[in-house]
Amino acid sequence: MQNLSRRGVLTLGAALGLASVADPSKAWAWSSAGSIAGTDTVSDPWRVWDDATDPLLVDLLKSGQVPAVNKAFEKWVDNGDALPAGIPAALTTYLRQHNTLPSWADQAKLDRAAQFNKRMSMYLFLLYGLGSGIMSTVIPREARNVYWSEGGAVMKSRAAKTFTYGYDLSAIDAFKPTGHFVVTSNKTRLTHAAVRHLLPQSSHWRAVTDDQDFIPISNGDILITFHSLGTFVHGKLKSWGIRMSAAEEEAFLHMWQVALHLLGVRDDFIPATWAAAKEQSQYALTPLMAPTPEGIDLADVLLNLTSAVDLGVTRGFQREFARYLLGDKVGDWLKLPRDYASRTVIEVGWPAYVRFREGLSPIIPTTFSLFDQFIRGLAMLFLNNGTSATYTPITIPTGNRAG
Ligand code: HEM
Repeated sequence: MQNLSRRGVLTLGAALGLASVADPSKAWAWSSAGSIAGTDTVSDPWRVWDDATDPLLVDLLKSGQVPAVNKAFEKWVDNGDALPAGIPAALTTYLRQHNTLPSWADQAKLDRAAQFNKRMSMYLFLLYGLGSGIMSTVIPREARNVYWSEGGAVMKSRAAKTFTYGYDLSAIDAFKPTGHFVVTSNKTRLTHAAVRHLLPQSSHWRAVTDDQDFIPISNGDILITFHSLGTFVHGKLKSWGIRMSAAEEEAFLHMWQVALHLLGVRDDFIPATWAAAKEQSQYALTPLMAPTPEGIDLADVLLNLTSAVDLGVTRGFQREFARYLLGDKVGDWLKLPRDYASRTVIEVGWPAYVRFREGLSPIIPTTFSLFDQFIRGLAMLFLNNGTSATYTPITIPTGNRAG
């Protein structure tokens, strides 16, 4: 009853436009009725971290065992691999419990998601790489965390590690014994727990963060990053008119729900439907996006990494494409240079390219090969990292960026 009336208040708040004010320092008002737990309660994900994992990492870091764990993790890659030998007993116990799918995971949906990822792969490389990757730089907390953590100083290998995650998630056998994603998620969850302990010790990070005592990477932070990935990609595919069956859309969401669980997000925060995800995204992510000096620098570094590969287009075209995906407000925040001629080509050519590729129009646009080379180049960049000897394993950091 109490929850119901609280919800009523929140609905009124939404009607008055108040629900768009999602700020980590303000009360959270998204009801978990729209979550996979389906409980009509309101709890604050900005105040939830990872109790199952964080104390373990504090112990491992304090006892200097992380380098040995990283070494032992080198050969632990496939979901079906035995747990690595020679790691601390507490970590083995932890992994026995967490290196597994949630009880509600549906293998049939995960298989459908894998097929969907395969069919969508060209769009996914583009959207995750040039869309979500750059969007992460206008999520202030994430930008500052990434910049001031150890990996922020070596963005090339950091980006490669993030590619590893995306590649493992999108692989056809991602959740099967031969796939890597469950293991990769566990390594990522452990990495996040290490960052929660390490970053608050960085004077640089403390100087720029929004709350001196704050612990990074809460469940709320992870949710908004999910919206910059899954929810963003789903929305773009829909707006481009790409054919997706209801079952495919549901499967793609299910894959992300499992991914969020594996990163330690509680079920009562994980959206149950795309409608709920969209609502949570508009509530929590949209109002939080803003430029920071760290984010502007990271975006430049990331865009330069992609323009170091020959995509058959100019730097101006690549920056304009990022603007096209994310909007000019974000482009202006990040000080992305303008190239109006390229913008015209993109605005006319990209929808025509998608229509032709999807069989919705028989007319080959004159700019077909330009866009085809561009997205194939991005795909190669991604795939080279995922399959070649340069595959970059995820390692748990032991310090912060020096300065
Ligand atoms: C590390 C993925 C959310 C901050 C990582 C890594 C992956 C990853 C794959 C390991 C590779 C690397 O070291 O770069 C994800 C995913 C997320 C998520 C899939 C959500 C869906 C967040 C959020 C923050 C964050 C919300 C901060 C607000 C970091 C930091 C590192 C890291 C600081 C460590 C980088 C280092 O070693 O210095 N994340 N992350 N992540 N993540 Fe996340």
